[in-house]
Amino acid sequence: MSDKRVLSGIQPTGNLHLGNYLGAIKNFVAMQNEFKCFFMLADLHALTVKTDPKVLKENILNTAATFLAAGLKSNKSTIFCQSQINSHTDLAWILNCIARVGWLNRMTQFKEKAGSNKENASIGLYTYPILMAADILIYKATHVPVGDDQKQHLELCRDIALKFNNDYKNNYFTLPEAIIPKSVSRIMSLRNGTKKMSKSEESDLSRINLTDTKDVISQKIKKAKTDNDTINEKIFDKESKRYEAQNLIKIYSNLKSETHDKVLKDYNGKTFIDFKKDLSDLVIEEIIPISNMIKKYRNDDKELINILINGSMVANDIAEKTIFEIKKIVGLA
Ligand code: AMP
Ligand code: TRP
Repeated sequence: MSDKRVLSGIQPTGNLHLGNYLGAIKNFVAMQNEFKCFFMLADLHALTVKTDPKVLKENILNTAATFLAAGLKSNKSTIFCQSQINSHTDLAWILNCIARVGWLNRMTQFKEKAGSNKENASIGLYTYPILMAADILIYKATHVPVGDDQKQHLELCRDIALKFNNDYKNNYFTLPEAIIPKSVSRIMSLRNGTKKMSKSEESDLSRINLTDTKDVISQKIKKAKTDNDTINEKIFDKESKRYEAQNLIKIYSNLKSETHDKVLKDYNGKTFIDFKKDLSDLVIEEIIPISNMIKKYRNDDKELINILINGSMVANDIAEKTIFEIKKIVGLA
């Protein structure tokens, strides 16, 4: 095993969808054989918007079940809940004092999530990227697999680590690198090819949930927005603006492990009616086994809870060592 360390997190804020799967979880699974991996349920991040406690508890278990159902293994990766490791928030405070207001003011996700009512957004939503930096740096992660929407937060994490090193005249933190999958870094809504597929989009038709049944998946793909043109090699040309078509081709080529060119060649001249039938079969083949396994894991929450407790113990040992070293560097220990 190489000395690369991988960490990533997902907020337990609702049903995970095909975007989370292709953009993040599928890559987590691929990495666990090669690297030392930490995969975390970012439950503290989930509190940055109003959350019903009962719903949050269910979502934590559902997300843990999804990690395992997708193929993460507790004997290969450390799987745990962020809120169980106090050093994350200890380090976040220290990093709050390193990061600059101007840096946070540039974060586009805050602007999008806070919308027009910025004054009323939680402070947690504003400082969320700093907690995320603490999540990464407390395990000295070298690689962070995420979707494209997290790229700016990773850059901020590097800036914070670098300023810490400069301020305290040491090289304590290694700067972590984002690992962003090329063509599926941003899976788009099935209803609007210019908006990303998201848990919070009102219409359920906009996304494929990892718990959807066969029938629901095929209905959603049948209803997915496309255009009236046939499939041809110009779909990815900048001027084509066929965003919905591009999205469906990207999903297909990822699931089939084929290049876009090959897919476009195979379907050249065909309509989306033919294509959608095949796409639907592919999505069902990938998602239904996961959906069945999620149900199986949720049948016995004891096993899930045990996995999270064991993961927390491993994570806590490492995190406590790091925070002690950092406290010494900054003069708190
Ligand atoms: P979140 O659901 O916001 O906690 O995101 C969890 C992970 O899934 C992050 O790495 C995101 O970048 C990734 N992700 C979320 N939505 C999409 C999407 N539509 N396409 C690709 N990746 C996504
Ligand atoms: N902010 C990430 C998201 O919403 C989740 C997250 C929290 C995360 N901490 C992290 C991702 C650390 C990578 C590394 O998707």
